[in-house]
Amino acid sequence: MKTIIANWKMRVGVRESVALARGTLLTVRGSKVIPEIVVCPPFVALGEVRKVVARSAASLGAQNMHSEDSGAFTGETSARMLTEVGVSHVIIGHSERRQVFGETDEMVNAKVRQALANQLIPILCVGETAEQRDADQARDVVRDQLGAALSDVRLRGGSKLLVAYEPLWAIGTGRSASLEEALAMHEYIHAVLNGVFPDAPKGQLDVLYGGSVTGENAYQFMREKLIGGVLVGGASVKLNQFREVVNAAIEVMEGLQE
Ligand code: 13P
Repeated sequence: MKTIIANWKMRVGVRESVALARGTLLTVRGSKVIPEIVVCPPFVALGEVRKVVARSAASLGAQNMHSEDSGAFTGETSARMLTEVGVSHVIIGHSERRQVFGETDEMVNAKVRQALANQLIPILCVGETAEQRDADQARDVVRDQLGAALSDVRLRGGSKLLVAYEPLWAIGTGRSASLEEALAMHEYIHAVLNGVFPDAPKGQLDVLYGGSVTGENAYQFMREKLIGGVLVGGASVKLNQFREVVNAAIEVMEGLQE
């Protein structure tokens, strides 16, 4: 199974989200094998998009959440509110949240624990800056982010955790990681995760790649066993591009069945 997460960021309103969700579902119509597709619209569109994806093969994801159950947190959304509108996945610690909104490792950790406690699947984002990579610190940065985010995290049977490797220099730049760079980091992340969750059964943990994923480069990433799928930003709001990403996943999955 390959997973494709569509992070629409703050790029589409309610009406556009509904249209995009419909178009996204059409990309798998008639296909025998269907990748796991998670659409993550802006909060205001979750309710309407839920109606579109209900009873479809696609799932609904949120782009963020707060770590507390409830309280005086103006502008925030709790895990329970998300489950109430049919959300099954939640992006946590996206670099835009960390950099623009000052999310710390501690906040990311609290959110991961809260998501799991509410039966949500966290999509935990990690990744280094260009400066950190140039200074040969990419692995250390990612290891530290994982260590902090997963501190005191327990995975119960039936729960699932997705980690998305999104190098910051690849996000929205048109310059994706090379396959070698992505593979090397995926291998490393899997090793770190094995250390943190030595008893996790197959399928409980998956690592995705994100950062300038397009219809052209999606296949080379997803063809790799170590890469469980892709987290797509810009190309997920362009249906012709997204269709190609989905087709790449379908092609890979059909090949796996043979
Ligand atoms: P782009 O695909 O636009 O580079 O964005 C990646 C991303 O941030 C997905 O979460």
